[in-house]
Amino acid sequence: MSLLDSLKWRYAVKKMNGTKIPAEKLDTIIEATRLAPSGFGLTPYSIIVVEDEETRKKLLPAFYNQAQVVDGSAVIVFAAWNTISEKEIAEYMQEIAAERGVAVDTLNDFSGAINGSFKNKTPEQARVWADKQAYLALGFALVAAAAEEIDATPMEGFKPDAVDEILGLTALGLHSAVAVTLGYRDAANDYLSGAKKVRRAPEKLIIRK
Ligand SMILES: Cc1cc2nc3c(=O)[nH]c(=O)nc-3n(C[C@H](O)[C@H](O)[C@H](O)COP(=O)(O)O)c2cc1C
Repeated sequence: MSLLDSLKWRYAVKKMNGTKIPAEKLDTIIEATRLAPSGFGLTPYSIIVVEDEETRKKLLPAFYNQAQVVDGSAVIVFAAWNTISEKEIAEYMQEIAAERGVAVDTLNDFSGAINGSFKNKTPEQARVWADKQAYLALGFALVAAAAEEIDATPMEGFKPDAVDEILGLTALGLHSAVAVTLGYRDAANDYLSGAKKVRRAPEKLIIRK
C-alpha cells in the first residue's frame, strides 16, 4: 500500500478482535516511534508498552471501559516527564557526546540554550511542552502502525491519575499524556468499520500564502 492508501485504510478502531500482533511488527512500530523528532531532541517522555493482559484489564476502567484496551494486543502509553531540569539536559548532552564521539564541553552552547529556554518556562509550561512532544510520538506510532497494517486507536479518553497509579508512573517522574491501542479491527462488530473518513475540505483546511 502507498503511504496515502495506508492512511486512508486506518481509522480509530472501537472494536478489536483479540488477535495478537506479531512481535516484529510491534517492534517496528516502537522503533518508528523512537525515531520521532522532539524539541531540542530531548525526548521528554517514556514509551510504556503494555502487552500483559492482567495489566490491561486493570487499565480498562481508567480508560472509561473503552473495549479496545483489552480487545487489542498492546496499549502504549506516552508518559511525559513531570519536570525538566539541568540534570535531564546534562544527561542528554552525555548521550549526544557518546553517540557522536565529541567532547561534552563542545555542547555547552547547546545545553545553555536548552537550559535558558526552560528557565523561561513555568513548571506547568514545561509539562505542557513535554506533553506536546509525546503527542508527536503518538503521530509517528499511528503512521507506523498503518504502514504495518496494524490497527491503532489513539486515546486521550482516560483518567491520567488512575493510569499513573496502575503503571507506577509517578515514582518514575512521569505522567500519562496520551495513549494508543494496537491490534486488529473486528470489522463485523465495529460500527465505524467502513465509515467514510471525515476531514475538513482542503480548501477550508489548507491556507496557501
Ligand atoms: C489525541 C487523540 C485522542 C483520541 N482519543 C480517543 C479516545 O479516547 N477514544 C477513541 O475511541 N478515539 C479517540 N480518538 C480518535 C478520534 O476520534 C479519531 O482519530 C478522529 O475522529 C478521526 O477519525 P479516524 O482516526 O478514524 O480517521 C483520539 C484521537 C486523537 C488524535
